[in-house]
Amino acid sequence: MRLLVLGGTRFLGRAIVDEAIRRGYDVTTFSRGLSGEPRPGAEALHGDRTNSADLLRLAERDFDLVIDTSVIAPRHVAASARLLAPRIRHYTYVSTLSVYDGFGEVPVSEESPVLDGPPDADGSVEELGYGELKAGSEQAVAQELPGRHLIARPGFILGPHENIGRLPWWLTRIARGGTVLAPGDPGQQIRATDARDLAAWLVDNTRRGIPGVVNVPGAEGTTLGELLTDCGDVTGPGPDGPLQLRWVPDQVLLAAGVEPWSELPLWAPGIPELAAVWDVTGDRALRTGLRYRPLSDTVRDTWTWLRRDAAARGGPGTFERRPGIGLDPDKEQEILASLDPQADG
Ligand SMILES: NC(=O)c1ccc[n+]([C@@H]2O[C@H](COP(=O)([O-])OP(=O)(O)OC[C@H]3O[C@@H](n4cnc5c(N)ncnc54)[C@H](OP(=O)(O)O)[C@@H]3O)[C@@H](O)[C@H]2O)c1
Repeated sequence: MRLLVLGGTRFLGRAIVDEAIRRGYDVTTFSRGLSGEPRPGAEALHGDRTNSADLLRLAERDFDLVIDTSVIAPRHVAASARLLAPRIRHYTYVSTLSVYDGFGEVPVSEESPVLDGPPDADGSVEELGYGELKAGSEQAVAQELPGRHLIARPGFILGPHENIGRLPWWLTRIARGGTVLAPGDPGQQIRATDARDLAAWLVDNTRRGIPGVVNVPGAEGTTLGELLTDCGDVTGPGPDGPLQLRWVPDQVLLAAGVEPWSELPLWAPGIPELAAVWDVTGDRALRTGLRYRPLSDTVRDTWTWLRRDAAARGGPGTFERRPGIGLDPDKEQEILASLDPQADG
């Protein structure tokens, strides 16, 4: 089986490449070479998808399957899909739950309306909007390969090599130990998908050629409290002493200007914009074979990766954290200091 991964060198794409190689596929990646090289065993083609001359390199090749993890303008996704359509059997595009109109505010299923993103739109994420860019890209793939495309819409993706830095930030903070600001309610339900589970499902269903749209919102039944406790269990006591999670009410954090979702990753306080953020239908993913591992395994393996990365570089972990992810230590201390010491943490 010849699989082309458009991308494949950073996080989810890397897990896809690993999974496909493990299954004995011939794997080729296409990337600019800026985010690193593909895994051993994969063939690397280099080029920029936004450059039509570079893209033409793919016209010299035949593949059976394509998985596209890109976050580029719909018109470039359309160009790749058009070029590859006569040369492949099935094209899978990794999209996002953010394509739903009102995602976060209202419950969504695969039938819910999506944002208006034209398939020929050009521009950056900042110009088009993330949800619109992904919605337009979905349309572009659907137009070029009708009936031969799968659109996966994941929610939170976590796991080793995570480049956004959500779980890495929590692990790194909790590893310092001492009193750690924990947001909202320890019983808050959260959902996330390990990149390796998503990768296995993507490879399987691309090979099977299942068409249509599938949400991958993560398993139900885990809480934020469990996640943070799991983090403490794997990191052990830190230089600032044994871990003590100090649960701070949503209202206190909102009043202090803490940004939900990003500044304290996975924190979704009870505000209208996030009231239904975990309320996503995920049955289709389960029916088509998605198997979610326990989040505690994801936490353990992400910590192992962070420590290995730190050891390899002879210093602190160097995961790339996007701007805005994680709470500034001074701000955390200010908020903790403002709390009533008698109140329950
Ligand atoms: N993280 C989450 O929680 C989350 C949630 C929902 C959905 N998603 C979706 O999941 C996917 C995550 O993908 P990933 O970043 O982990 O995938 P990845 O395939 O590991 O990394 C992205 C790849 O795209 C390549 N690339 C970027 N710009 C390119 C260009 N102009 N031409 C050619 N190659 C280019 C990068 O390599 P070079 O830089 O070397 O070119 C890199 O290999 C995205 O589609 C995202 O929207 C993520």
